Amino acid sequence: MDGMPDDSPHVPLPTVLTPLPGPRSSELLARKDRLFCGPLRDIDEVPFVMARKSDWLIEDVDGNTFADHVAAWGSTPLGARAAAAVAAAARAHAEQGMEITDYVMSEPPLALAERLLEIAPPGITRVGPSISGTEAVEAGVKLAREATGRPIILSFYGQYHGESTYLTAAASSDLSEVTSNNAQYVSGLVFAPYPNRFRAPFHDGPGPYDDTIYVDFIEQYVLVHQVDPGQIAGVLIEPVVGEGGIIVPSAAFWRRLTALCRKYGWMLVLDEVQTALGRCGAMFAAELWDLEPDIVLMGKGLAGGAQPIAAVLATERVMADCDTHPGGTFAWSPPACAGALANIDAIVAEEALDNARALAGIAHEELDGLPDRFEQVGDVRAIGAWVGIEFVTDKRTITPAPAFHAAVHQALVRRGVLGITQWGKWVYRLQPAINMPPELFRWSCRQAAEAIAEVADDPPPEPGLLDRFADGRRRTG
Ligand SMILES: Cc1ncc(COP(=O)(O)O)c(C=O)c1O
Repeated sequence: MDGMPDDSPHVPLPTVLTPLPGPRSSELLARKDRLFCGPLRDIDEVPFVMARKSDWLIEDVDGNTFADHVAAWGSTPLGARAAAAVAAAARAHAEQGMEITDYVMSEPPLALAERLLEIAPPGITRVGPSISGTEAVEAGVKLAREATGRPIILSFYGQYHGESTYLTAAASSDLSEVTSNNAQYVSGLVFAPYPNRFRAPFHDGPGPYDDTIYVDFIEQYVLVHQVDPGQIAGVLIEPVVGEGGIIVPSAAFWRRLTALCRKYGWMLVLDEVQTALGRCGAMFAAELWDLEPDIVLMGKGLAGGAQPIAAVLATERVMADCDTHPGGTFAWSPPACAGALANIDAIVAEEALDNARALAGIAHEELDGLPDRFEQVGDVRAIGAWVGIEFVTDKRTITPAPAFHAAVHQALVRRGVLGITQWGKWVYRLQPAINMPPELFRWSCRQAAEAIAEVADDPPPEPGLLDRFADGRRRTG
């Protein structure tokens, strides 16, 4: 890789040999469209079918390879192979097999619970087994209500918490795409906008805005016109918004929000399903601002590429004597626990958190100049192994540019980089394994800059945001 700083051992680079989708992928994608439900049909976002993965590359059935900046939506923090976690899970499978830990205890869940409490944010003393991020957040909401005896949850526009009926309502970022209009059937939620410094409601044009204005809004509007503070059980918040576009609140925002929590007795419920175990370059994003949450929710990266697992962590007061049951049949099976424990050990042994922080540095070096070069690049954000590039039609109005975003994504896939695009959104995301070699990551960032230049030469027309629904179709595919 000529011209690259030699910041890691050399790794294989992706190669795309066929037009996309290739012939075999086309056949299989057509089969998929005949078989699966709406959200899996007619999607052109990933124009290939995977054959196999190795470390940080995905190979499709036509022999093309792609740098993997999806990382199984964050659940393979150490790349596709996840050797230590998979081996530990296999050993536990041979010894204990599937078991319902809620009822029959074994050693792997005990060892995992002890390890999680060693690394958890201060004040956390109890663990609740769970199976998915969605169920962990559901339990977090129930626990906040049980601990306070209060009904209302304060959430933030632009977050994502999962696919249950309750959380699709609380996950307002995806209202148009995910909830199928179910939000109206759920009560007990009030909202404030998430503290976004680039795009603030009631302000024209791009920030940076002082994001303590969002706490002003809670104090001066939500608590005056919508809900009495004594009715609020807890604040459900992602410490860094993931699906909503890698938005990082300021220290000043957290100071003001946590002061409100203390003043009114609100539980601080941190949804760390995306962020826990290294995504932001720290074990928990809470560490970045010395937050002391009452309840922390984990998922994704905890599985470490082995078996599905999630966790609810909380203080003694919240969880020692609670009646809320966070688990279920599959929660914390011995193999999933053994895999998760080996995964945490591997993250530490590989110094993957340091690597994640180094990746953010590379993203800043390679991508921070893009807003000056391209009218359509509104903002670039990076923290740990997480990058968001926000596309706009122009710098003055910062009208979202989802068509430009989708075209950049496709141009990048043709270059061998698979990142995250979602229909209707305008923030492109890179979300690699936190141990991706810096050299491959830098190469991918350079491909992103080239893909943007290609699309900027002939930008696609942008649909009005609500016009996307005009023909009754929810997807573009
Ligand atoms: C912040 C956050 N919370 C919760 C969830 C839901 O997790 P799961 O898909 O495992 O149910 C997600 C999934 O993307 C997430 O990003």
